Amino acid sequence: MKYMVKSKILATFCAGLLTVSTGIQAAERLATGTQQKQAQKTVIETSPWFDDKDLTLTGVYYYPEHWDESQWERDFKKMHELGFEFTHFAEFAWAQLEPEEGRYDFAWLDRAVALAAKYDLKVIMCTSTATPPVWMSRKYPEILLKNEDGTILDHGARQHASFASPLYRELSYKMIEKLAQHYGNDSRIIGWQLDNEPAVQFDYNLKAELAFRDFLRAKYNNDIQLLNNAWGTAFWSEAYSSFDEITLPKRVQMFMNHHQILDYRRFAASQTNDFLNEQCLLIKKYAKNQWVTTNYIPNYDEGHIGGSPSLDFQSYTRYMVYGDNEGIGRRGYRVGNPLRIAWANDFFRPIQGTYGVMELQPGQVNWGSINPQPLPGAVRLWMWSVFAGGSDFICTYRYRQPLYGTEQYHYGIVGTDGVTVTPGGREYETFIKEIRELRKHSSSRADYLARRTAILFNHENSWSIERQKQNRTWDTFAHIEKYYRTLKSFGAPVDFISEAKNLSDYPVVIAPTYQLADKELVDKWITYVKNGGNLILTCRTAQKDRYGRLPEAPFGSMITPLTGNEMNFYDLLLPENPGTVVMDGKEYIWNTWGEILNPPADAQVWATYKNEFYEGSPAVTFRKLGKGTITYVGVDSHNGALEKDILKKLYVQLNIPVMDLPYGVTMEYRNGLGIVLNYSDQPYTFNLSKGAKALIGTTEIPTAGVFVFSVK
Ligand code: GAL
Repeated sequence: MKYMVKSKILATFCAGLLTVSTGIQAAERLATGTQQKQAQKTVIETSPWFDDKDLTLTGVYYYPEHWDESQWERDFKKMHELGFEFTHFAEFAWAQLEPEEGRYDFAWLDRAVALAAKYDLKVIMCTSTATPPVWMSRKYPEILLKNEDGTILDHGARQHASFASPLYRELSYKMIEKLAQHYGNDSRIIGWQLDNEPAVQFDYNLKAELAFRDFLRAKYNNDIQLLNNAWGTAFWSEAYSSFDEITLPKRVQMFMNHHQILDYRRFAASQTNDFLNEQCLLIKKYAKNQWVTTNYIPNYDEGHIGGSPSLDFQSYTRYMVYGDNEGIGRRGYRVGNPLRIAWANDFFRPIQGTYGVMELQPGQVNWGSINPQPLPGAVRLWMWSVFAGGSDFICTYRYRQPLYGTEQYHYGIVGTDGVTVTPGGREYETFIKEIRELRKHSSSRADYLARRTAILFNHENSWSIERQKQNRTWDTFAHIEKYYRTLKSFGAPVDFISEAKNLSDYPVVIAPTYQLADKELVDKWITYVKNGGNLILTCRTAQKDRYGRLPEAPFGSMITPLTGNEMNFYDLLLPENPGTVVMDGKEYIWNTWGEILNPPADAQVWATYKNEFYEGSPAVTFRKLGKGTITYVGVDSHNGALEKDILKKLYVQLNIPVMDLPYGVTMEYRNGLGIVLNYSDQPYTFNLSKGAKALIGTTEIPTAGVFVFSVK
């Protein structure tokens, strides 16, 4: 297995211990020759669209239809002078592209594309399906999205059309096909963005209900008894005698059958996925040398990201400061959450090996609860954070601040006069210059793909758990973050992966709170461990099958072949009266979920409960199985301290060196470059070892500062 080679090399480097290493040492260890070669191969296979030597391309949104045509040339010229390499058109321009049904006007867009090209700006073209023109809503009201309470959305905003409406799809495809015929063979267009932030719709349009029934007919082989079994409809007289009796589950009914809700959410995600996939295939009929992506909001549990197989890669949008203070210290609301971009990078990149960022905040936004000025330097910090994760492009939203419409108070690269560069605009200019300079220093980006720790993620687990939390203080994503945050403090490269990925690419795999499972998955885990993998499973894992039903077997026993544990029972405590778990003499607080375990003789007990009637019982176990190990964490701690210490203990056993970065400081590695980012409210001193060369910034990194060094 690949990682066995890596672990060996790592062990020789650090002589078997939990070392708190300097950044450069850890980075070097992650970039062994073997890894580089393997990863390089992957890059060539997975990213035909971008040139490694460019590191990243930087671009900016422009809406030609918002501005007097006489100003376009001035704007593109300025964009070019600031260093931007591409722009982004036609996102919300359906009304201008098809002013009347069947009458298309691309002449204005042709002129904009030509002027952009004059200033060396490539173009990302969009399909503008987020903003259907008014003639459509008036002539065909059946395309409008309907809420559960019966309200029908209307013209005058955006995103009011139903993806489940066959007519809406047909009208969209007609327009898209014309656009693709027109621009699909145009070398000035580098790629396409589908729709805008396509979300999963909870749409009560009649067409959605009919489509849901069709989805179920296909899934259950047209056999209503199969559906009744899957949904457990013997309970509360819920049985159906025909698919035609099934309606969309009402969210106001709090005791709605949750097996039905699972299928409904799968269906709802598939509607968005199919719409995007069909758009993409249509464009690809004409566009042979242009990539196609879309710009998702990183809402990880909507379940649609990565679900449209024909897309070339996935992109995301990210806004960092909007009033909710997720940052560190008094100025944190101006800097943002240290893991917000990192998590998106680590989630989007593994899907297809590369990703782009379609929207990044250039300054104040207009839609937050409080819209502060970013801290000077923060805009640049975010760009570096995106870059650090391995992205191929960064596009900022938007070039000009709008003078009318919903987003009047939204900053741009230039202000309301159309020419004065904003502070965020200057930070873009700086970043672009820095990247141009770095292009002289970097090597292949293959090294950053040599990621070594995976978090196995399936949105269906959080859907299922959220319906039956059992403890109001349980938070699925907070649970996952306890592990993620620890890994980032280790400086460990992390990939969020789906079950379709090859686990053996990673020496360590964590499957946190993975509630829905089946024999196939458990067998996959067993094979991974027996062949030398190190698996960490956490509480609530594999308790249910994929329909959300409990197997007719001892509770939680699906993973007994791995852990060897039996679960005596689980307990939940009041938050104001939490319990304690002890590991190696240290105490940790918990209350949300605790499993009282009965381990086999060959397992080590790492932590036990300290109170209640089960005092002394095991909470965390560790076991060797075949050539690998399985760690089972049956409890969720309050603040993640237990999770951190468990991972430290495990990594010591595995001879995997880790760093010990404070929360707020992250270190990433790509193209032979180490990148240290400081989101904390304190300056951070980075320990640069000999041989490494500082390229940008100094080892004294201020709040919102960045330090880049070459590890060659
Ligand atoms: C995004 C959206 C953009 C724009 C932006 C403003 O969520 O995709 O179209 O509205 O917000 O911050």
